[in-house]
Amino acid sequence: MRAIHITKSGGPEVLELQETPKPTPAENQVLIKVKAAGVNRSDIITRQNTATYGKGSPTTLIPGLEVSGEITEIGEAVTDKKVGDKVCALIADGGYAEYVVVDSSHCLPIPEGISLTDAAAIPETVFTVWFNVFHLGKLQPGEKLLIHGGTSGIGTMGLQMAKAWGCETYSTAGTEEKVDFLKKLGADHVLNYKEYNFEEVWKDEKIDVILDMVGGDYTQKNLDILNKKGRLCYINGMKSMDVNINLRTIMAKNLTVTGSFLKPQTADVKTQIAKDVEKNIWPLFHSKQIQSIIYKKFPLAEAADAHRLMESSEHIGKILLVM
Ligand SMILES: NC(=O)c1ccc[n+]([C@@H]2O[C@H](COP(=O)([O-])OP(=O)(O)OC[C@H]3O[C@@H](n4cnc5c(N)ncnc54)[C@H](OP(=O)(O)O)[C@@H]3O)[C@@H](O)[C@H]2O)c1
Repeated sequence: MRAIHITKSGGPEVLELQETPKPTPAENQVLIKVKAAGVNRSDIITRQNTATYGKGSPTTLIPGLEVSGEITEIGEAVTDKKVGDKVCALIADGGYAEYVVVDSSHCLPIPEGISLTDAAAIPETVFTVWFNVFHLGKLQPGEKLLIHGGTSGIGTMGLQMAKAWGCETYSTAGTEEKVDFLKKLGADHVLNYKEYNFEEVWKDEKIDVILDMVGGDYTQKNLDILNKKGRLCYINGMKSMDVNINLRTIMAKNLTVTGSFLKPQTADVKTQIAKDVEKNIWPLFHSKQIQSIIYKKFPLAEAADAHRLMESSEHIGKILLVM
């Protein structure tokens, strides 16, 4: 099969299309003939730091955390899926390839109304938002949610999920075009962070939950605008992972600061998230309250251009590789 390999740590040019053996499913896994793979910011971090992931191993790494496609083989112990099923799946790596193996319990049916290709944009965003905002952050209907970087893959999905959940939504973005897009998508309050200071504009809003991927000096500002018993949920610190905060703010308002990485969660945790999102979020696709926002699709061989686009931050929503 053909797959994109990270040949060494570096820029997009280290991504190479190579012939590689087709994987074989273990007893609890399925083999998926991939239709499309989602590109995620995390793939860029993996590409830049392969040396630390490879730990001196001579083998190269196939990136890719989510795919859609058709099951062509199943392991001996698999009873919940069959050959021919069309699915989307969360995977630990290996998605930029014509075939990938995955635990059968990390595969979900294609939501009604979503094409097989576009379904590749769903797993990483929905699983991450569910785990951080709804499970750890305990977002409730009627509460206020702020997501920074609203036009990211995560942001476009998270804002729609929260709106459909009955929440008031807030978001920040870096251009007027992005602000307009988020308003049309249904976000209630959006500002261009290059023009306005969110911590001043929203200082009296009493926001209940914030999903942040920026970190750095945003952290104290986030704490300052949270409601009593508010929850601050971290999924990255793109500006800086090192922060300087006043602990008094947390104690005075009874705040919770949490965060997680999805990729290293155990298989059981991912299985539980899959069950939760199929029950709670899949019906929102069926009722057309949420959709996957796709910005651009690239052929597999042009994965380097897909990474260049993501690094430019020009995109709104998801970038896909199509087989
Ligand atoms: N912890 C986890 O398990 C987990 C899982 C999935 C994703 N993530 C993280 O969630 C974030 C979103 O992921 P994604 O794949 O949806 O990303 P993405 O589509 O590439 O979006 C990232 C957006 O963040 C905005 N941004 C704000 N401050 C930034 C900064 N200092 N540097 C770069 N961009 C900045 C940019 O838009 P503007 O023009 O508005 O600035 C950019 O488009 C990433 O940081 C990713 O690593 C974490």
